[in-house]
Amino acid sequence: MSEPIYVTDQLIADDIDAYLDTHQHKTMLRFITCGSVDDGKSTLIGRLLYDSKMIFEDQLDALHADSKKVGTQGQEIDFALLVDGLAAEREQGITIDVAYRFFNTEKRKFIVADCPGHEQYTRNMVTGASTADLAVILIDARKGVLVQTRRHSYLCHLIGIRNLVLAVNKMDLVDYDQATFDAIVADYAEFAKSIGIESFTALPISGFKGDNITALSANTPWYSGPTLVEHLETVEVNSARDAEKPFRLPVQWVNRPNLDFRGFAGLIASGSVKPGDEVRVLPSGKTSTVTRIVTMPSGPAGASATGGDGDLPEAVAGQSVTLCFADEIDCSRGNVIALADQPPQVADQFEATLVWLNDEALIPGRAYWLKLATQTVSATVQPPKYAINVNTLEHVAAKTLDLNAIGVAEVTTDKPLVFEPYGENRTLGGFVLIDKLTNATVAAGMLHFSLRRAQNVHWQALDISREAHAALKNQKPAVLWFTGLSGAGKSTIANLVEKKLHRMNRHTFLLDGDNVRHGLNKDLGFTEADRIENIRRVGEVAKLMADAGLIVITAFISPFRAEREMVRAMLPEGEFVEVFIDTPLADAEARDVKGLYKKARSGQLKNFTGIDSPYEAPINPEIRVDTTAMTPKEAAELIVARLLGDD
Ligand code: ADX
Repeated sequence: MSEPIYVTDQLIADDIDAYLDTHQHKTMLRFITCGSVDDGKSTLIGRLLYDSKMIFEDQLDALHADSKKVGTQGQEIDFALLVDGLAAEREQGITIDVAYRFFNTEKRKFIVADCPGHEQYTRNMVTGASTADLAVILIDARKGVLVQTRRHSYLCHLIGIRNLVLAVNKMDLVDYDQATFDAIVADYAEFAKSIGIESFTALPISGFKGDNITALSANTPWYSGPTLVEHLETVEVNSARDAEKPFRLPVQWVNRPNLDFRGFAGLIASGSVKPGDEVRVLPSGKTSTVTRIVTMPSGPAGASATGGDGDLPEAVAGQSVTLCFADEIDCSRGNVIALADQPPQVADQFEATLVWLNDEALIPGRAYWLKLATQTVSATVQPPKYAINVNTLEHVAAKTLDLNAIGVAEVTTDKPLVFEPYGENRTLGGFVLIDKLTNATVAAGMLHFSLRRAQNVHWQALDISREAHAALKNQKPAVLWFTGLSGAGKSTIANLVEKKLHRMNRHTFLLDGDNVRHGLNKDLGFTEADRIENIRRVGEVAKLMADAGLIVITAFISPFRAEREMVRAMLPEGEFVEVFIDTPLADAEARDVKGLYKKARSGQLKNFTGIDSPYEAPINPEIRVDTTAMTPKEAAELIVARLLGDD
């Protein structure tokens, strides 16, 4: 930032303490500026900083340091979940082109996210918008409503920004003509209505000349609304609106410094709470009464049984607090505390809008981490119902979502999620998806609603447990999961292992790739998505068989780590035994038992593992069989010995 820094308020010079005190009690408005390249965004931001003689936050921090007030300022900048996720990427050196600028006026503090305009920066815009209370949509008065104007408005509305400012800029270049302004506003109003934008505030401005930024301009006598700064200073911020909603506290951590104190800490996402309120913990549904609201220095390290700054008579959205209950009910990180008679919903299947943020496209069926508020679960996404052309807003058919694509799809989680529709609560309806292997944030999502079928299917408790099944067979169930290239020797060795176990009176079953693909999975081919579905189904079958008490042996290439890990996670600890049949590609290809490598090399067979489809070798398999160093018989002996070793 090269703009001059103005510290005009004499108060700062005279009395830093008093200044800081006023400053601390200001509300914070986060906003985003969008527009296409030449709409004058930088000029406008420069103008805002210059004309309102704002002082930058970093400058203020320096003042704090000088006055030894560090740590007592209440100006924590709560970048939302999405930004957190992306911060990790930033550390890896991938530039995120959103510039955040911090400044303040006498009435308010501001964070402005300055986002690039091109379509390839959709994800940057979504990042910037994810925490914003307001969006300034800039229009060049000479050009009117453009494709970018529509795309940006759509994205801002999608992200849930309810305060929209239509800043018709460069009015000086159209001679401050009211008719031009009115025509643009009418044009925009029609579009806005079509996508469900209920209201917006339109202003004629000139960033360059300063018209209607901090003072009403004599050049537009026909305009009598607020100046841009006035509007920014007085518009209702999300936190004020959140305070009116039902009470929700996503639990960040359980505060138990000693046996006499047990409290549940987190940032209140919406509503308010008082001692004496009856609350419900979701998803369990257990209820209790709030006995105390304790304010805490941030984080478990600073917790104290006496309760930080003291007890509160009431706490509202935006405050970080610790709640104590009258009863010893279960409550842990990821749970959500709500008023007993106004609970949020709980479900494990949803419809959601996804904005894809990663270079690698969505893989339907792949398990990703889903983070929503303080909850983290494993989730899979179905092939999209449709994608949205962000320029025309048409729905288009799509098999996947590429970088910057937006689509609607069903999402299934492995555990129930406490949620609210995004339109009602951004904290409990917004989520990110994270790649389990690379930890990259791959998507931002907004939950629409839960699918009714999820609500109507309940887990049926059965009397004969898996332990009872196994006890009758007098064995410990297991899944010996073979993985390796085609022709590595998986089926041969698996077959020998089964024969050996069978002779030892073990109850076994062998699931073999080629065989299962003749029946259960005959509808699947060898695309990435089909292989993932292949492994998902085989995993489910293997799990059922292990539940029945069997020792299951599976022989599938199962080329992807993510899906092998998914199956591992489906089974009790220790029951999944990954057996890597390690045969170098050259050896498997030289043997070419089924002649498939030859076909693949000649191009007759597409997507062949090891040739034009990847194989991700296990990093830490329970058993590794080097087929260049032992015979199939030796391999089988090794595997059986390892399996039964601890029997
Ligand atoms: S997996 O990748 O989905 O785990 P699976 O083990 O079920 O594969 O099936 C692999 C078998 O299918 C191979 O042993 C081979 O006989 C046959 N096959 C046919 N086409 C392909 C292909 N494109 N890639 C790998 N195997 C193939």
